[in-house]
Amino acid sequence: MKLTVLHFSAVGTTLQIARAIAQNFEGDIDWIDLTVPTNRQKPLSFGEHDIVLFAFPVYAGRVVRIPRYYFKQIAAHGALAINVVTYGNRAYDDALLELNILAKKVGFISVASAAFVCEHSFDIGLATGRPDASDIEKARAFAVRSFKLVQRVVANAALLTRYKDKEIAGIPGEFPFKTQFRHDFGGPLVPTTKDTCIDCKKCAVNCPVEAIPYDNPLTTDAERCITCVRCIRRCPVRARSIDLPDFIRHFQWLAKTFQARKEPEMYYLFEE
Ligand SMILES: Cc1cc2nc3c(=O)[nH]c(=O)nc-3n(C[C@H](O)[C@H](O)[C@H](O)COP(=O)(O)O)c2cc1C
Ligand code: SF4
Ligand code: SF4
Repeated sequence: MKLTVLHFSAVGTTLQIARAIAQNFEGDIDWIDLTVPTNRQKPLSFGEHDIVLFAFPVYAGRVVRIPRYYFKQIAAHGALAINVVTYGNRAYDDALLELNILAKKVGFISVASAAFVCEHSFDIGLATGRPDASDIEKARAFAVRSFKLVQRVVANAALLTRYKDKEIAGIPGEFPFKTQFRHDFGGPLVPTTKDTCIDCKKCAVNCPVEAIPYDNPLTTDAERCITCVRCIRRCPVRARSIDLPDFIRHFQWLAKTFQARKEPEMYYLFEE
């Protein structure tokens, strides 16, 4: 039995959660970093006894848009999935349900799902320092229980027949999903570059959707940009930022409103 970890992590917290889960797997692990555009070019095919751990962040209440396009290249053939989303202590809204539906559409049977809280990408003082030790311990417990379920299902195919098509029962969310970015911030929600830029190209090389031209990192393709903030975090001279006043006001409000600590939430295909 092999585990494949398919993850997208612009800032790195989703990867921390994926690692905390995967390290409890006894067997071979393939890591595919979907944050790297070239890694999204290869079609993937799985078989009945393969397991895939999906780990993606929540963007505006939905799963980051990458799997919506990328999953079309996957043929699951009844492989088992563990679906994980991370979010910045506001809410995960429809994202976990969406990830489950996307996985199901391409033929996965999802045995477990979870939403973990991680530091908010916008660096606004939400969920600062998370995942912390308690989150990592919960990720471990989630992994142990999920991999046990996997073993039970593999040993007893009748269980799958019994629970097939019940994967999304109990996972919160509302279908049809809402439009992802609904707020009008008075301009496109993409970083701009100050003239303090030293043309090091780090932002262009690291952008997950190739929205920053290598020849001219002073510009950003607003159609491509997914506002993941990786370029802002990785710029050595802090030349990139999103300065729209309505956006800043909105995130000040978010930071004030959603301080109360939320805990990871987990869902399993069936109780043992
Ligand atoms: C564009 C964008 C939208 C986001 N929307 C939400 C949201 O709706 N709810 C929430 O709680 N956190 C939201 N976040 C925070 C991220 O989901 C969270 O910080 C996540 O762990 C980031 O993963 P990463 O560190 O792997 O990039 C958003 C972050 C970004 C960049
Ligand atoms: S340009 Fe947009 S998509 Fe690219 S790294 Fe920056 S915020 Fe992310
Ligand atoms: S990372 Fe910063 S300094 Fe380097 S090219 Fe991009 S904006 Fe300029």
